[in-house]
Amino acid sequence: MFLLPFLVLTFSLVFVLSHQTALLAPITKDHTTHQYTIQAHLKTPLQPTKLLLHLGASFSWLDCYQNYTSSTFSHVPCNSSLCSSFHSLACSNCYSPQGPACANDTCALFPENPLTRKATLANALLDSLALPTTDGSTQLSQLGGLVPDFLFSCSQTSLLQGLAKGVAGLAALGRSNFSLPAQVSRSLSLPRYFALCLSGSRSEPGPVFLGSSGPYFFNSKIDLSKSLIYTPLILNPVGSTVITYYLQPSDEYFIGLTSIKVNGKAVPINASLLTVDENGFGGTKISTVDPYTVLETSIYKAFNDLFVKEALGLNLTVTANTVEPFGVCYAGKDIMSTRVGPAVPTVDLVMQGDDVFWRVFGSNSMVRIERSDADVWCLGFVDGGPHARTSVVIGGHQLEDNLLQFDLESERLGFSSSILVKGTTCANFNFTSTSSKRIVK
Ligand SMILES: *[C@@H]1O[C@H](CO)[C@@H](O)[C@H](O)[C@H]1NC(C)=O
Ligand SMILES: *[C@@H]1O[C@H](CO)[C@@H](O)[C@H](O)[C@H]1NC(C)=O
Ligand SMILES: *[C@@H]1O[C@H](CO)[C@@H](O)[C@H](O)[C@H]1NC(C)=O
Ligand SMILES: *[C@@H]1O[C@H](CO)[C@@H](O)[C@H](O)[C@H]1NC(C)=O
Ligand SMILES: *[C@@H]1O[C@H](CO)[C@@H](O)[C@H](O)[C@H]1NC(C)=O
Ligand SMILES: *[C@@H]1O[C@H](CO)[C@@H](O)[C@H](O)[C@H]1NC(C)=O
Ligand SMILES: *[C@@H]1O[C@H](CO)[C@@H](O)[C@H](O)[C@H]1NC(C)=O
Repeated sequence: MFLLPFLVLTFSLVFVLSHQTALLAPITKDHTTHQYTIQAHLKTPLQPTKLLLHLGASFSWLDCYQNYTSSTFSHVPCNSSLCSSFHSLACSNCYSPQGPACANDTCALFPENPLTRKATLANALLDSLALPTTDGSTQLSQLGGLVPDFLFSCSQTSLLQGLAKGVAGLAALGRSNFSLPAQVSRSLSLPRYFALCLSGSRSEPGPVFLGSSGPYFFNSKIDLSKSLIYTPLILNPVGSTVITYYLQPSDEYFIGLTSIKVNGKAVPINASLLTVDENGFGGTKISTVDPYTVLETSIYKAFNDLFVKEALGLNLTVTANTVEPFGVCYAGKDIMSTRVGPAVPTVDLVMQGDDVFWRVFGSNSMVRIERSDADVWCLGFVDGGPHARTSVVIGGHQLEDNLLQFDLESERLGFSSSILVKGTTCANFNFTSTSSKRIVK
């Protein structure tokens, strides 16, 4: 069943799930923690739930100890084919009263908090998940897309430590068979694609499109799916989760960055740092739980040096003091502003060929800090240390107002570079629902 009974349209399922219709969710940034959260509706009756957005996680999880009331949850028996399909290595029993978090002979998982790197053992659970539907240009209905048996893991309330206020769990978007996009595509027979557009606005959300290869319209006449540049997704053979199964590859999205250029000049980088080795070290991944791009120390230093040199050519001189966690800052008054942010040297993330690059303009490379003791623009990249497991982690600030399409059918990433260039923003997506006009009793 794909639709909630009370949302059944006069048209048929075929209409609702025509090629044009996909699912959608709003993504909001918590500006205290720099965390991105996705809003979904879970349980029966459906309850709005905020989940931390994590591009690298294998399965979603939810606090099952506070306010879990639902008439539709069910456990996964240890011996079931479903249990073996997600390679659960644990079967749990429980001596408290039966409930979502407590049952006998129930398949278990190890949910993890990526910020604290704490993990716990908890039941797998099936329950309803509903999201809005979209045609790619506007939200069609608020709860029209239902996955009746969404699989996630319960967790103890303590696993929420470190997450933004009001967040009840984690939404996994990783390359596993049980991530949110994988389950949506499988349950609703939608193409195995999703696309993410993190908003750079302080107040308005950006969308994630699930089960759609396009179109993607942001309140303009341009379909952004038509102007993506593609690079292969690379499999890291060794995961870096807290509880890592033997020989299980990473569910994070790695890409083949080959060079970083500033104003067209290459940063000198030891090339071996940019490839993933057999132990899973090195390479470049995309992360929504790192607020800023993290560079291994030698890359960080070489990148800062070249940027400072190129900025000097624009008559920009660094400030004597920097603002943590950044290493290079400029006085706010010194920098002119353009439609793609402050006027600073451009940064290109070059992929498999010199003509395949992700261009990072000032709006994504620089971070404005305005407070009583400082008014500066800082280069928004941070030092990951000399032994960083992953050499380049492209973080949230660099992703904002960029459209990223994860094509899981062809295992490639489509990127737009800054959509400010096209005169639009992620916040321009029209979430205004027209559902009331379409619903009949
Ligand atoms: C549980 O639900 C009640 C009533 O809806 C609400 O007041 C309370 O804040 C909730 N507690 C948590 C921890 O979410
Ligand atoms: C699990 O399944 C196997 C094969 O179907 C069966 O032999 C076994 O008894 C089952 N075990 C339990 C605990 O149900
Ligand atoms: C699980 O089985 C044990 C032993 O049979 C029993 O004491 C316990 O109450 C059961 N737990 C649940 C939640 O049913
Ligand atoms: C994911 O599902 C596909 C298709 O059912 C299967 O071939 C593949 O082995 C699964 N992957 C994992 C890691 O279980
Ligand atoms: C490049 O990095 C690799 C891996 O960290 C190291 O073994 C090698 O010595 C480095 N090469 C140079 C020239 O620094
Ligand atoms: C930098 O400043 C010098 C001296 O004030 C001036 O001659 C030059 O044109 C400036 N360059 C740029 C790129 O603004
Ligand atoms: C958003 O979509 C609704 C419904 O399609 C439409 O009425 C409204 O004008 C749109 N808003 C903008 C700003 O285009």
